[in-house]
Amino acid sequence: MARGKEFFGFTGFLLLFSMVLGVGCGGGSGNTIINQDVDMQASDFECLKNMDYIGPYYLTNKLGADNLAEALKVAKSSKGGTFPPGTVIQLIPLEAMVKRVEGWNPATNDWEFFSLAVTGTTTTIKSRGAEYTKNFAGLNCFACHSKAAPQFDLVCGDNHGCDPLLPTADQTTTDQMIKGFQDADPRCP
Ligand code: HEC
Repeated sequence: MARGKEFFGFTGFLLLFSMVLGVGCGGGSGNTIINQDVDMQASDFECLKNMDYIGPYYLTNKLGADNLAEALKVAKSSKGGTFPPGTVIQLIPLEAMVKRVEGWNPATNDWEFFSLAVTGTTTTIKSRGAEYTKNFAGLNCFACHSKAAPQFDLVCGDNHGCDPLLPTADQTTTDQMIKGFQDADPRCP
């Protein structure tokens, strides 16, 4: 009897102790996020298939393993989240979204949009910036991506509330077109 009581007393103490320390509910991911700026140069972009495939897009992070782990966690979560600095996301070789340092441009959640050209193994930056970058078809990146539900951090996916990429095509056709662009990336070996 006395022993049992003592046992529960000790467990209770441990529970209280871990609650005070925040052990077990420790503010989330366990990843130590590096909050640094990433100023991408043309040569920093690479064959899409060198990055992690989330489907339908490719993702990497230029600030190390913990930032990458956090970015993958956010990308895979059905609840969304905020991508960490250094995250690079590409659906096709000609466009990229890059997460700059926190506070870089609050209006775009610190995303920088890139319109790129790829010739052979060479990538060229055609234009870059926050709210005003346009894609190869002259359409504004942010105008579309800002329609994503807020918890998805401007990532459209196929069901986050953005206007569809190809208004007249169904999702299967869109997915096939996306895959075609990805498979045709001339920078890949
Ligand atoms: C007409 C609206 C529209 C415009 C303009 C547009 N996008 Fe998107 N973008 C989308 C949609 C919709 C998707 C998701 C497509 C899918 O998964 O089927 C997408 C996907 C992406 C993705 C993959 C992650 C995600 O959001 O799903 C990236 C990266 C991206 N776009 C970057 C850009 C950049 C950079 C520009 C400008 C250079 C741009 N986009 C212009 C609508 C747009």
